[in-house]
Amino acid sequence: MAGESQRTFYLETFGCQMNVHDSEKVIGTLVSEGYRQVSTVEEAGLILYNTCSIRDKAEQKVFHRLADFKRLEAQGKKFGVLGCVAQQEGEKIFDRAPHVSMVCGSASYRNLPEMLIKIETGDRHVTGLDDRETDECFETEFTARTNPHRGYITIIEGCDKFCSYCVVPFTRGKERSRMSDSVLAEAARMAGLGYTEIQLLGQNVNSYKDPAGKRTFAELLVAVGEVPGIKRVRFTTSHPRDFGRDIIEAIDSLPTLCDHVHLPVQSGSTRMLDAMQRLYTREQYLERISWMKAAKREISITTDVIVGFPGETGVDFEQTLSLLDEVEYDGIFGFKYSPRPNTPALSLNDAIPDEEKARRLAVLNEKQREIQVRRNGRHLGREVEVMVEGWNQPRNQWIGRTSQNKVLNFAALEYRRPAVGTYVTAVITRAFPNSFLGEMVI
Ligand code: SAH
Ligand code: SF4
Ligand code: F3S
Repeated sequence: MAGESQRTFYLETFGCQMNVHDSEKVIGTLVSEGYRQVSTVEEAGLILYNTCSIRDKAEQKVFHRLADFKRLEAQGKKFGVLGCVAQQEGEKIFDRAPHVSMVCGSASYRNLPEMLIKIETGDRHVTGLDDRETDECFETEFTARTNPHRGYITIIEGCDKFCSYCVVPFTRGKERSRMSDSVLAEAARMAGLGYTEIQLLGQNVNSYKDPAGKRTFAELLVAVGEVPGIKRVRFTTSHPRDFGRDIIEAIDSLPTLCDHVHLPVQSGSTRMLDAMQRLYTREQYLERISWMKAAKREISITTDVIVGFPGETGVDFEQTLSLLDEVEYDGIFGFKYSPRPNTPALSLNDAIPDEEKARRLAVLNEKQREIQVRRNGRHLGREVEVMVEGWNQPRNQWIGRTSQNKVLNFAALEYRRPAVGTYVTAVITRAFPNSFLGEMVI
């Protein structure tokens, strides 16, 4: 039977915001089952890893870490692998790391309470591995949100897009949306607890389909933005194929919907987009950008780019660079292509050497840096509202975030030290590629 020490757990999270938020739900679920979260492996009876397998040999890293923990088994500690590597590798994890007790993918978290009982009563290997066909969402009232002002709400899980390079459809199962009424009830509950910012999450938020058929994604956005007490609503990630003009109209109609859209492009070459099975052309993508540029408020646009996808020529890469110039993004996340298990692109020849991928990535990032210097420079002298996120004591600067999701460090007024989580207005006095400096005005 489990001793007192085994009812403590340590959880480490890797990967995207979906994983971060899943961990908040997992923590809430474990706490409601009588477990206590601790901050070191040494104190914990149960050690959990919520894993990511999006790029690079992620699963190898997990196995290395698990091998390091083998020595702790003698102390009676138990180990669990959650998330995308768990779903991807499944029971193979027990073969390679027999000291692991639990392997559970994200589509099975609703079964965690039963799985924990099995582990406590001595089951050596407990699995929660749903096939792609699961149609339930992981909804729980026990979410342990870490930030008291800004919180996530999952509106759609899984992905049916099957971009040729991507593991997500295999690790997170088929697309399934949450009832819009349930999303709104959670938003209202959060507002009641003092949250002012909500971030709606999904691998493809704009593929959202209300199971009750009540609201489109744009209508849900507006409804969340109208919840009393909510001052900012963000959403991520959008897929260009499903990105409708109604989203921009919603942002235009309601100031609580933040003026920032993350719209991953992956490549500026239609030939590459086709090979990636992204379901849009360069021109169709640029059309969506033109809708954003015509919005009433200036919308900050960010993206993801993959360099070195199999078959990417110098000409294809140049097209990605020219797209950066054309769109003038506010930020990009650039990645070197890495082949992933199960994905269709695995059958393509990954022939571009790593040094060449690294070179392209460096060129991409340098171009983007110049664009950000240029773009951010235009913000000098503007007054913006920021949510206060913290205080940098050595510099005596406050850290704020704008509605456009940019960081603004600012000097506070002599007589008014702003509280974290409140909103203040600051004027921008200096612009850097990745942040601003300013002074508080009210
Ligand atoms: N659902 C989101 C992306 C999720 S993954 C979307 O469709 O945009 C986040 C980013 O990781 C992707 O946008 C892509 O740029 C990158 N990525 C995914 N698989 C990759 C791979 N195999 N190699 C390199 N980058 C990859
Ligand atoms: Fe992956 Fe494509 Fe789905 Fe995004 S849309 S999660 S890149 S398969
Ligand atoms: Fe990683 Fe899974 Fe997210 S693979 S990026 S944690 S969906």
